[in-house]
Amino acid sequence: MKKGFKKFTLMIIIIICGFYSMVKDTVPNLVSLSVIGSEFSLDDEKDKSLKVNSDNIKPDKLLVNKNNGLSSDYIPKNLSIPNIPFSDSSDHEEKHVAGIIVNPLENLVNAAKKEGIILFGNSGYRSYDSQKNVYNNRVRSQGKALADAYVAKPGFSEHQTGLCIDITNKDKYFVEGTKEAEWLGQNCYKFGFIIRYPKQKKNITNIEYEPWHIRYVGKEAAKYIYNNKITLEEYLGK
Ligand code: DAL
Ligand code: ZN
Repeated sequence: MKKGFKKFTLMIIIIICGFYSMVKDTVPNLVSLSVIGSEFSLDDEKDKSLKVNSDNIKPDKLLVNKNNGLSSDYIPKNLSIPNIPFSDSSDHEEKHVAGIIVNPLENLVNAAKKEGIILFGNSGYRSYDSQKNVYNNRVRSQGKALADAYVAKPGFSEHQTGLCIDITNKDKYFVEGTKEAEWLGQNCYKFGFIIRYPKQKKNITNIEYEPWHIRYVGKEAAKYIYNNKITLEEYLGK
């Protein structure tokens, strides 16, 4: 009986080792997510983090996407709340943006207002932990595939840079075809912003079309990106 048990245990160990050596190479080196229910721990993704110093950010050079992350403790410089209306669903943290985009954003929202277009800030800066909550909540409510199509994993979201903000309208229905989304798409470059996740560019950005997410890159880069109908990845040759 004792001998049989030993044999059985040995067999189980051999099977487990065999299985591990079969699957270990199917997991990409850099992306090693540990899945606990629907929660994702990204601690192993540190090696994809850019070494970015918030003191000398160049908004037209900083690329944060699936392959270029930020360290979890990255905090943008001079986080402040711009003087624009906010959606009632924005929390205090999300009302902040990096100091460098406060004036351009206020100018954009004021210019829209002069043309009868009322824009609201919805979600600007999100810390690593907030993004983790947003991502995990989305996975729980809509499943991983849909979450990944619209929400970046913590550490890989532009929202942590403070250089972007999601815009909405009074109906909180900011989709293609609404006058607010059309205005933003046609005019944001004049203030140094781009529609960061344009239509039909998911193969490059990894994110579905988001007419509401604008990213500050400065006027020159924004104009070039708008005129050439390209993404930030293409602009930066990445
Ligand atoms: N919605 C964008 C991709 C983000 O979560 O950063
Ligand atoms: Zn966004």
